[in-house]
Amino acid sequence: MEHQNDEQSKQEHCSRKIQVSKRELETVFDAIDTMICIVDNNLSIVRVNKKYAGFVGHEIKAILGKKCHEMFFNCDSQCADCPCLVTFQTGEAVVNKRFIKKNPQEIRYFEVKTFPVYDPSGILIHVIEFIKDVTDEKRMIEQLIRSEKLASIGVMTAGIAHEMNNPLSGISGTAVNLLEKPEKYGLNDKGISRVGTILESAARATVIMKDLLHLSKKNESVYVMVDLNRLLIKTINAVHLEGAGEIQKKFMLDESLPFVYCDPSRIDQVIMNVVTNAMQSVTEKKQQMSAEGKKYTGRIVVSSQKQAATALITIADNGIGINPDIRRRIFDPFFSTKPAGQGTGLGLSVSHRIIEEHRGRIYFDSIDETTKFSIELPLESAGTKIKEE
Ligand SMILES: Nc1ncnc2c1ncn2[C@@H]1O[C@H](COP(=O)(O)OP(=O)(O)OP(=O)(O)O)[C@@H](O)[C@H]1O
Ligand SMILES: [Mg+2]
Repeated sequence: MEHQNDEQSKQEHCSRKIQVSKRELETVFDAIDTMICIVDNNLSIVRVNKKYAGFVGHEIKAILGKKCHEMFFNCDSQCADCPCLVTFQTGEAVVNKRFIKKNPQEIRYFEVKTFPVYDPSGILIHVIEFIKDVTDEKRMIEQLIRSEKLASIGVMTAGIAHEMNNPLSGISGTAVNLLEKPEKYGLNDKGISRVGTILESAARATVIMKDLLHLSKKNESVYVMVDLNRLLIKTINAVHLEGAGEIQKKFMLDESLPFVYCDPSRIDQVIMNVVTNAMQSVTEKKQQMSAEGKKYTGRIVVSSQKQAATALITIADNGIGINPDIRRRIFDPFFSTKPAGQGTGLGLSVSHRIIEEHRGRIYFDSIDETTKFSIELPLESAGTKIKEE
C-alpha cells in the first residue's frame, strides 16, 4: 500500500514537472518576438505563437489546420519557392529566405528560416518556420547607406556649388545689363532673344546650384505646425506637367492626422519632386501604351496616415515602375533616366536630405504595376508647438 502511494506521488510529481516545463516552453514560444509557425507535410498549420496570430489577425484556434500560404499571404496556392517544402524534401534547414507581402496599404519584407522536426523514430513530421519582419531594418540600412553616400558627395559638391555661384551671378548680372540697355550695346531683336536665352540658362544653372548647396549643408529652416493633408492637396493640385494628358488623382487622407512640426516650404518641395516623378512616369507609360495601341489611364494615389510616432505620406503611381537595376541609385545626386534637359537627377537626393533634416524617412517600393514613395515625419509632442501655419 505504502509502495503504491509512493509510486502515485512520484507520478504526480513527474506530471507536475512536465506541465511546468510545457507551460515554460509555451511562454517562451509566445514571448519570442519573431513569428513562429509549425506546419505538417501538407503545409497545414499545427501550431503558431501569439506574434504570428497577432500579425495575421486571427485567434490561434482559427488558424490551426489552415494552410500556411492561405493564412500569411491570403493565397490559394503554395508559394513558388516554399522553404518549408524544401526542408521537407531535403531534411535540411533553409535560412534567410526573403519574401515580400504586398497589401493595398503597404509592402512588407520578411526573412524566413525553416527547420526540420523529427519524431523519436527519426521521421520528419513537422517543419518549424521562423518569420521575421525585416521591413524597418531594411529601410533603415538603406537610409544609412544613402546618408553616408550623400554626406561624402555633399562635401565635394558644396565646394563646386559655392565656386560656381560667383561666375553665375556674373553671367546673369551682365545679361540683365544688356537687356536693360540693348541700344547702348548694339543689340537687335535677335540679339535680345539670344541674351534672354543666356539669362534663362543661367537661372536654371542657379537653381541647380541651389539644390546642390541644399544637398551639402543644413539651411536655415522655418519650422511650424503644419496641416499635412491641406499641404498635400494644395501642392499636388498645383503640379501640372506639360503633355501629361489626363491623370486620375485620388486622395485618401487620414482626417485624424495631427499637425506636424516641419518646414512647409521644404516639405512642399519634397512632395512636388515625388509627384512630378510620378506624373512623368505615368506620362511615359501612356506614350508606351499608345505606341502599342493599348488603352491606359495614369493614376496617382496620395494617402496620409497617422502611425504610432509618425505621420506617413504615400504617393503611388501606376507608371513605368523602377527597374531593379537602378533601385540603389535613384537617390544619388545626378542620377536620372530622363532625356537630357528634362531631369537633373537632383529631385530625390534633395528630397532625401530634406526629410533627413526633419528626422524622417523616405523610401519606395516598386512592384508589379505600382511604384510607391513613402515619407515618414515624426509626430512631435504638443510641447514643441510654436505656431500654426
Ligand atoms: N515614380 C517613379 N517612377 C519611375 N521612376 C522613378 C520614379 N521616381 C523616380 N524615378 C527614377 O528615379 C530617377 C531619379 O529621380 P530624381 O527625381 O532624383 O531625378 P529626375 O526626376 O530624373 O530629375 P529632377 O532633378 O528633375 O527631379 C528618375 O530619373 C527615375 O529614373
Ligand atoms: Mg524628379
